[in-house]
Amino acid sequence: MTQLLKVAALVSGGGTNLQAIIDAAESHSIAAQLVCAGSDNPQAGGLIRAQRHNIPTFIVDYSAIIRQYDAPNTVAVLPDDCNLTEIMARERLTPPTMSPGQRERFFKTRLMAEAALLKQLGAFGADLLVLAGFMRVLTPYFIDRFNVGSQLPRIMNIHPALLPSFSGVDGYGDTWRYGCKVGGCTVHFVDYGEDTGPIIGQRSFPILPDDTLADIKARGLQQEWELYPECIQLYARNQLTLVPSSGSAASRMIVQITAAPAG
Ligand code: GRF
Repeated sequence: MTQLLKVAALVSGGGTNLQAIIDAAESHSIAAQLVCAGSDNPQAGGLIRAQRHNIPTFIVDYSAIIRQYDAPNTVAVLPDDCNLTEIMARERLTPPTMSPGQRERFFKTRLMAEAALLKQLGAFGADLLVLAGFMRVLTPYFIDRFNVGSQLPRIMNIHPALLPSFSGVDGYGDTWRYGCKVGGCTVHFVDYGEDTGPIIGQRSFPILPDDTLADIKARGLQQEWELYPECIQLYARNQLTLVPSSGSAASRMIVQITAAPAG
């Protein structure tokens, strides 16, 4: 029997991508099994979807952690194994315009949340973590601790635009407002930047003159539900390799897809 890839998922919202992955796993169209689903949002509909399929769930309530940090007379307790200065030197998430105080608050609260995430995820021994509408960026602290024991990165994300265009929180909205005639979605590995990691797969779709933003989102999601399981299957079947990009001065790594193994 084929060894199944153990997949953990993080969601913040309705979880239709998570559902597509669960369905693909249950119908054996991908060689993967969902081992857990977590969320930063206690109300995330994705958690209910997971529970319906007997997938263990957990919550790391980022908003509560941030509130606690902001409360008067609170001393932030950072994880023992983190070096804030070194993490902030490596990140590519925050804009130069962010004040030092805001930046410190951002990283301290994320580190506390990420230590809790790592602890929860640690119980499930996942091979791959998929961000499926998880609306929090991950810092180098989390990424380096999760990306161990594999030649490939172990965290994937799905983004609702054709990267590298329209990174950020509203990919479909930004695509539509820009007046693009084609939209798309992208699955990529997660690196230290926001939506900047090596691209694994993309789908595109036409944007027609009378389309509303709701039309674009609906069309895009249909594509996402196919693309994400496909990319997970490429990972499960060892068809992905990272190679240096030939033309790139900044030594960018890109994903090469090799042929499916026979049989
Ligand atoms: C999707 O459009 C995904 O690309 C983006 O967030 C949305 C999540 O939708 N990152 P759902 O929760 O999977 O339905």
